[in-house]
Amino acid sequence: MERRTLLLCGLLALTGCGSPAAARQPGVGSARTGDRVAGLADVPEGSGALVPMPGDGQLLVVRSADGVRVFNPACPHQGTVVDPPAAGVITCPTHRSAFDPTSGAVLSGPSPKGLAEVPVRVSGEDIVLA
Ligand code: FES
Repeated sequence: MERRTLLLCGLLALTGCGSPAAARQPGVGSARTGDRVAGLADVPEGSGALVPMPGDGQLLVVRSADGVRVFNPACPHQGTVVDPPAAGVITCPTHRSAFDPTSGAVLSGPSPKGLAEVPVRVSGEDIVLA
């Protein structure tokens, strides 16, 4: 390897350039009670979405006819961020655990328990941490 190539690689390593962006961590991040999670319009009824939180956190918001539920998207098996619900099921992409989107309960797979629910309330058109 040429000296110039070595210097460039070292510079990229020091600056973080060329490496993937830091991944968001499941959870509320640095958000506190009363902080906005998402707008109701961001998650139409019958759908769900992973939403970013301050401090590199992320939460899973699910809306059904019964209301809004918010979960920490960390799979209880090994911590993979689960996918938003599809065809009525939340699925972990790593080992395929399945969770009920209305409760977070585990339906199948190796997960030893359901998704942890994050308490929220609806304030006007926003979902906020309770
Ligand atoms: S990490 Fe989710 S099922 Fe294994």
